[in-house]
Amino acid sequence: MKIIMLGAPGAGKGTQAKKIAEKYAIPHISTGDIFRANIKNGTELGQKAKGYMDQGLLVPDELVVDLVADRVKQDDCKNGYVLDGFPRTIPQAEALDHALAEMGEKMDYAINVEVPDENIVNRMSGRRACVDCGATYHIVYAPTKEDGVCDKCGGSLILRDDDKPETVKKRLGVYHDQTQPLIDYYTNAGILKEVDGTIEIEDVFGEIVKILGA
Ligand code: AP5
Ligand code: MG
Ligand code: ZN
Repeated sequence: MKIIMLGAPGAGKGTQAKKIAEKYAIPHISTGDIFRANIKNGTELGQKAKGYMDQGLLVPDELVVDLVADRVKQDDCKNGYVLDGFPRTIPQAEALDHALAEMGEKMDYAINVEVPDENIVNRMSGRRACVDCGATYHIVYAPTKEDGVCDKCGGSLILRDDDKPETVKKRLGVYHDQTQPLIDYYTNAGILKEVDGTIEIEDVFGEIVKILGA
């Protein structure tokens, strides 16, 4: 089962992708997480990506396309995977289709998690991410057992640099310009599914399971 998660920044792509990966035992591939890990480890890719990310801009297509094309060819992707944060532009979607076609494969689902812009800024200011394992929480909607401490690994929680309200607004603008056109792209491909992302996390997941099948 090969799944793409679509949706605005903060719509809940990562939250739902992790649950999908766990239930269906497939890898969760988040390009944002890959870039953040590269930044943390001080790699050349991380250094290139950081400037764009901090400004709320997309990293150039050429830095991300080969990375994902290589990742989905790994062994653990044989039974499928869930892509979170990729593709984000029409050229990325075309490159993905091309890479899959070479392997005689195609995507099965593009799930669009719908949340209006008004809800997003508020949601992001409450998000907290673990510096060690990348788990994400929300101070109101998905709190940890102990304040500021990751439930999964005990690491400390931070507000992501790009989750400041000004940067979130910028990211929303970029989303509408460059990523929203993918909704038509995957509608035309016949694989688009919509879910309401404003309901509770477990209920959103319930809608997704209805689409994917138990
Ligand atoms: P990325 O890390 O992908 O960020 P994003 O798309 O902006 O999305 P987020 O991770 O911010 O949101 P999400 O939808 O995953 O929401 P989450 O589940 O955390 O990318 C970061 C940057 O990297 C980009 O800006 C770009 O620079 C670069 N980049 C990455 N991929 C790229 C690509 N392909 N091309 C070019 N550049 C790329 O949820 C948000 C919060 O809400 C959490 O606190 C969560 O607990 C809470 N929440 C979730 N669901 C609910 C709910 N139903 N009700 C209440 N709260 C909820
Ligand atoms: Mg995310
Ligand atoms: Zn952690």
